[in-house]
Formats: sequence, C-alpha cells, structure tokens
Amino acid sequence: MQWASCVFLSLLPFCSAFPTEADEPCASTCGTDKGLVLGVYATEKEEKAVQLTKAGDAFDQVVSGKLKELLSISGPPLKKGKTRIFHALHQNFSSVVIVGLGKKGAGVNEQENWNEDKENIRAAIAAGCRQVQDLEFPYVEVDPCGDPQAAAEGAILGLYEYDEFKQKKKPAIEVQLHGSEGAEAWQKGLIYAEGQNLARILMEGPANHVTPTRFAAVIGEKLKSISSNVTVHIRDQAWIEAQEMRSFLSVAKGSEEPPVFLEIHYQGSSDTKEPPLVFVGKGITFDSGGISIKPSSNMDAMRADMGGAATISSAIVTAARLKVPINLIGLAPLCENLPSGKANKPGDVVRAKSGKTIQIDNTDAEGRLVLADALYYAHSFNPRAIVDAATLTGAMDIALGSAATGVFTNSKQLWDQLYEASIVTGDRVWRMPLYEHYTKQVTDAPLADLNNIGKYRSGGACTAAAFLKEFVTAPHWAHLDIAGVMENKDEVPYLRKGMAGRPTRTLVEFITRLSQDKKSV
Ligand code: BES
Ligand code: ZN
Ligand code: ZN
Repeated sequence: MQWASCVFLSLLPFCSAFPTEADEPCASTCGTDKGLVLGVYATEKEEKAVQLTKAGDAFDQVVSGKLKELLSISGPPLKKGKTRIFHALHQNFSSVVIVGLGKKGAGVNEQENWNEDKENIRAAIAAGCRQVQDLEFPYVEVDPCGDPQAAAEGAILGLYEYDEFKQKKKPAIEVQLHGSEGAEAWQKGLIYAEGQNLARILMEGPANHVTPTRFAAVIGEKLKSISSNVTVHIRDQAWIEAQEMRSFLSVAKGSEEPPVFLEIHYQGSSDTKEPPLVFVGKGITFDSGGISIKPSSNMDAMRADMGGAATISSAIVTAARLKVPINLIGLAPLCENLPSGKANKPGDVVRAKSGKTIQIDNTDAEGRLVLADALYYAHSFNPRAIVDAATLTGAMDIALGSAATGVFTNSKQLWDQLYEASIVTGDRVWRMPLYEHYTKQVTDAPLADLNNIGKYRSGGACTAAAFLKEFVTAPHWAHLDIAGVMENKDEVPYLRKGMAGRPTRTLVEFITRLSQDKKSV
C-alpha cells in the first residue's frame, strides 16, 4: 500500500490522501513521468563508503550497486540539504534525486531546541521534491528516511507555492511514499503539513478576497466536510453588539467590510462535558494602522494580520482530521483596521466586554483591542486552558526575528507542553516575561483603566502581552506573539518565500500532547 497526496493550492476542499496498490503495475503512476527522492547520510572525512538510508540501500541493490557507484564518482559527498540527480537508473523512475541528510542520528540539539534529524529530513526532502517539480513530473516517490512523518512534512511544505491568481500555474504533483513501511506516520505528516498549508493559503490571500466573511466561510466549510463532531457559528455584527464587545467593534467600525466573530467547536473527547481547550486568534484581515496609519512600504504584508486566526483555525481543522480525542473551541474576531470618518481616533475611550475602559492612544495597536473581548468571552466556556495567537507586535519581530514564536504564559505546565511540541515540529517557541513591570506601563492611563499602548517604547511585545493579561483570569493561559514568524524570506529551508502558516504544526502537536495528558492542565 502506498500513500499519496497531491499538493493542493487553493481554497477548495482538501485534495485527500488516498491509497494505491504498489505491487500492481499501474499505467498512470509508473514509468517515465515519475521521480524518486532518496536520502544519503554524511560520512566522516576518513570514511569513503556512501551511507544510504534503508530505502536507498534497497534501491541500490535493485540497480546492482549502480547508485552507490555513481554517487562516489560524481563528486564530493553530498552536503546537508544539497541534491544530486541521476537519470535512467531504473525503468520505473526517469530521475532519481539524491538528497543530503547530514549526520545520521543527530537527535535533539540542545542549543537549537529542535530535533536535528527531523529538521534535516524536512529540508532535504523539500529540496529533492522541488527538483522533481521543476522537471514537471506529475509524480514523486519519497524515501521515508526512517521518519515518515518528517519526510511527508518536508515534501508537502516544500512543494507548496501560492499561485491562486496567476494564469500560469505550477503543474500539480502527486507525492507518494516509497515502499510500504510507515504508512501511518506518513499519513500523519501529510495531514500536519496540509494544515500548515491551509494557514499559508489564508494568510497569503489578498485582503479583498480573504475578507472576514470569506475567512469564516472557508473554515466553516472545511470543518463541516471533515467531521460531524463540529459546530460552526458565524456570528454577525448584531451578535457582536449584543455581546457588548465594544472594544472589538471600535476597530471594525472604521471599515465598510462587516466584522465576523467566528466560533468553532470540535467535540473529539468521548466525554462531551470535558472542559475544552479554547484557542483565540487575532483576525485582522487587513491592518492599515487606522488613523495612526502605517508607512506605505510593505503594507501589503498586513493582509496576513489574521495569521493568529488562520493558524488556530487550521490547527483545529487538522486536529479534527486526525480525530484527536479532545474538546476544542476556536474563537476569531475578524475585521479590518482602516482609517475613515467612523474609525477610532487617538485618545478615544471604549468600554470592553469585561467592563474595563481602554484609552486608544494608537489605533495601530488594534490587535489587543479585538483580543481583549475575545479573551474575556473565552472564559465563558469553563476552559481547561486558553491559548491565543496573534501577529501582535513589530517588537516581537525585532526581539526574536523568525527563529521562534514568543510565548507569554502564566502556566509552567502549558509552557512545558508547548516547548516539547515545538522541539518535535521544529517550529520553535521561546518563553517571554509577563512581569508586573510591564503591567504598570499599560494601567497608567490619563482617561481610562488601561491604555492600549505602553508608557514607554521599550519592550513593546511585553507591554502588549501585559495588556492582554488584564482580560485573563484563567490559571492556564498562553499568548503567542507570532508577528516575527508570520513571513518566510529564506530562513526556513523547507518553506518557500511567503506567508509561513507558523506555528500551525506546533499547535497541532500541542493539542495531541494535551489530549494524552489529562492531569497537568
Ligand atoms: N499587526 C501589527 C504588528 C505586526 C507588525 C505584525 C509587523 C507583523 C509584522 C500590529 O497591529 C501593530 O501595528 N502593532 C504596533 C503596536 C504599537 C503601535 C504599540 C507595532 O508593533 O508597531
Ligand atoms: Zn496594527
Ligand atoms: Zn495588527
């Protein structure tokens, strides 16, 4: 049995993974239009022998040792992430791409806080699959490299490219597991990566297409097509008003586009009464800054200011596909932040749903205004824990860049789970402080209980988190500032340039871990 998945690049329903029989010769998937990606490990300088993976060795035997021979005479040993291509080695594959996996058994790197084997596999397989994609083959078979999940993630994440609005599209390529071992883990990897790609599609999408209404419809349709254990509420402006979410509404009123409060429920636990894990995601489908308008250069990137909503929703979609036994709720306040005659003005004061008043000294600090009401509302579900994700501050990008998501949390248990999850996924987190020091800088406001900007410029990500904390009473809460990881330039080798959909896989891994740990949180 082989597991296959084609790379889907649209907002259409998932191109689902499906099995094909390996031993039956199949006219459509065998032969000259197929590529094979195989891994090779790095060897010590003095070692001359080529060290292939298990699948590589098996293939080498089939071609009577030709692969190892070619590899050793065609140049120096392959470096990590580099590729070498051979043609006409075997009748079933027109091209075989060999990829460098680095040192075998590197394990967890304590400095880097990630599993190096997994990261190496993701990067190498992504590079190999792209080579096959460039040859415009419709099929590629992938070496599981001893970790089928990481290999599948590398393939699906590496092949993704957004061309929704281009007339000339990249030809579709179907990814298949080479061999019959590890089908289950391979399948899990496909689903994890497709989850991240869903977040990438939503984030990359232009703001005139991915409006609050469209965002909610896409997630609603996806969820309903996956599981019957879901409820989707697309709350309209009247509902938001009835909820007295005035802080959220104050941001939304500057735009002609109606706001939406998306509320999704997934009942994965057999105990329907089990307290849910509640996710909250910032859903600003375009952030111009409002009256405190942003500079025009690179303002287009602010179409991804709904990255929090995209990643938490995609993580819930993925958890539902994986049938994770846990109860989840996702909340996303969705709207635009634009300047207009109706928009917030610096110095305006609003009363949030919690009753606290907020002085809006900077209309560009709108994320915390929409989250204040959503976080307060999250408490009404008797949550086991609350986790929010938001492209909240430019200061977060200044602090950590794209290396890791900043996590502000009042719970050591939540931190441990997020951190452990991120070592496995390679989409890292780093703990940030929630000191009273920062709280003092947002509670000292001339006109209201809170100011939406800190008294000083320094520590902007920390003052933003301290502001959110004013709307949280739950003992297990984590705020993820994902502004720094929103976009990939060239830092993560298995993601092409563009909106990154991070940290969707870490959230999925975190959900899975929490579903197995009913004690600590
Ligand atoms: N959406 C931005 C933060 C952002 C910046 C995300 C860059 C991704 C990349 C947020 O709404 C914002 O503008 N924050 C302000 C806060 C400031 C006015 C206190 C910022 O970071 O400059
Ligand atoms: Zn802003
Ligand atoms: Zn914003």
